[in-house]
Amino acid sequence: MITVEERAAELYDVVRACRLCALAETRTNAVPGEGPLNAEIMCIGEAPGVNEDRQGRPFVGAAGNFLSELLAAAGLSREQVYICNVLKCRPPGNRDPLPGEIEACSEYLDLQLDLVEPLVVVTLGRFSMAKWFPQQAISRIHGSVKEADGRLIVPMYHPAAALHQGNLRQVLLDDFARLPDILERARAMSRGNPEPAVAPPAPAAIDFRGEPESAMMDEDVPVASSPPGAPPEAIPAPAQPPVQPAGPRPPETEQIRLFD
Ligand code: URA
Repeated sequence: MITVEERAAELYDVVRACRLCALAETRTNAVPGEGPLNAEIMCIGEAPGVNEDRQGRPFVGAAGNFLSELLAAAGLSREQVYICNVLKCRPPGNRDPLPGEIEACSEYLDLQLDLVEPLVVVTLGRFSMAKWFPQQAISRIHGSVKEADGRLIVPMYHPAAALHQGNLRQVLLDDFARLPDILERARAMSRGNPEPAVAPPAPAAIDFRGEPESAMMDEDVPVASSPPGAPPEAIPAPAQPPVQPAGPRPPETEQIRLFD
């Protein structure tokens, strides 16, 4: 039987040779992702930058250093988490990913989610956030938690944003500081034993888009509050805006055949 390591190696080979979009023409190296295949946490960024393109590894530049710092603040090491991006190739000049590029790369990310099966997904920046939170503003929902496909999804600002806007540094540190509790909750969920909800994040000191702070929270995971050993009892989640259903998947351009 093919092992998870063999499946990952096969996927990485396909990504490194990928020519599904025009970024194949301009990249130096594709950047599939890295980390333990049994990681409990997967961090998903936007796209490789110049350093990542050179080295073929994700988050190895200034944003990567800050990501390591954020993980350390949450008591985690970079080696414990799986790290990848929405796009596996660098957009020239670090421009935003184009919809067609995201679509061309989307199956790779789906395969990585299937391989690693993380309990918690941390989206870094708006492009990975949009996979689970379409049409939402990161200024409103950063640090909140959503359950999808049996795992917890936590949208965070991109670490690079704090390198440009110093006031986001503490926001990111505060959001990452909640990760251990969120992970505990995800572990309890995976054991079929949900635990009390994690305290909602404090509203950001600054509302970056001038939006009402009442809309900051999107805590839609069903929770239970029971003494240890007692059967879990569902309690209603706090009042909240309705969760957006996942948007329709764009039509697939070309089927990527792996693991047949
Ligand atoms: N920014 C990203 O989104 N990904 C990287 O790998 C590096 C910087």
